[in-house]
Amino acid sequence: MKQFWNQRYSDKAYAYGTEPNAFFKSQLDQRPPGRILLPAEGEGRNAVYAATLGWDVVAFDQSEAGKKKAMQLAEAKQTSISYRIVDAMDFNEETTFDLIFYGFFHVPPTVLLPIYTNLNKFVRPGGTLVLEGFSTKNLGRGSGGPQNEAMLFSTCRVKSLLHDFKTLEVWEEEVMLNEGRFHQGSASVIRAIGVK
Ligand SMILES: C[S@@+](CC[C@H](N)C(=O)[O-])C[C@H]1O[C@@H](n2cnc3c(N)ncnc32)[C@H](O)[C@@H]1O
Repeated sequence: MKQFWNQRYSDKAYAYGTEPNAFFKSQLDQRPPGRILLPAEGEGRNAVYAATLGWDVVAFDQSEAGKKKAMQLAEAKQTSISYRIVDAMDFNEETTFDLIFYGFFHVPPTVLLPIYTNLNKFVRPGGTLVLEGFSTKNLGRGSGGPQNEAMLFSTCRVKSLLHDFKTLEVWEEEVMLNEGRFHQGSASVIRAIGVK
């Protein structure tokens, strides 16, 4: 999989564009800056946006090509982010975060629960979780995401991944994506907001 992502990010163009995801932006724009964790951040569009708003950003991904593009984007926007190359299963950090954003972070079912369990613990008590990913209804629609039902989200699946959040809203929504070459057109997504 790492090879797949390095290949996708080797193109000059940004696979999901350089602008932040719309749902992420709408959530960030209504909160004061703090410390944010962006797992599986790819080419850095969300991390860089958060940094321009004054957030202290820690991002990570398994892809070196993703990191390279993210650091170039940060430089172009005259801001800075911390970006690590690490597998989500092995991510570790001594201090917690005010907000975590899971953006289209789809993984095989065998590692889904262990990965989200590892990452959820880095949100501080009272901290916020925001998630957007493709729903199982998006299978075969051509607007993006894995073409494997087992790697997609349902409200039920996401609720069980995020059960350790005190308040949690999870819903399905029809959206129009316009994010680079690989997220284009009408899509069914799962969104979630939670507080620990
Ligand atoms: C669809 S991209 C989303 C990128 C970014 N969140 C965005 O919305 O622009 C999925 C990302 O997950 C990363 N990824 C998948 N499995 C991972 C793992 N186990 N550890 C770290 N990154 C992973 C991939 O390298 C890829 O960059």
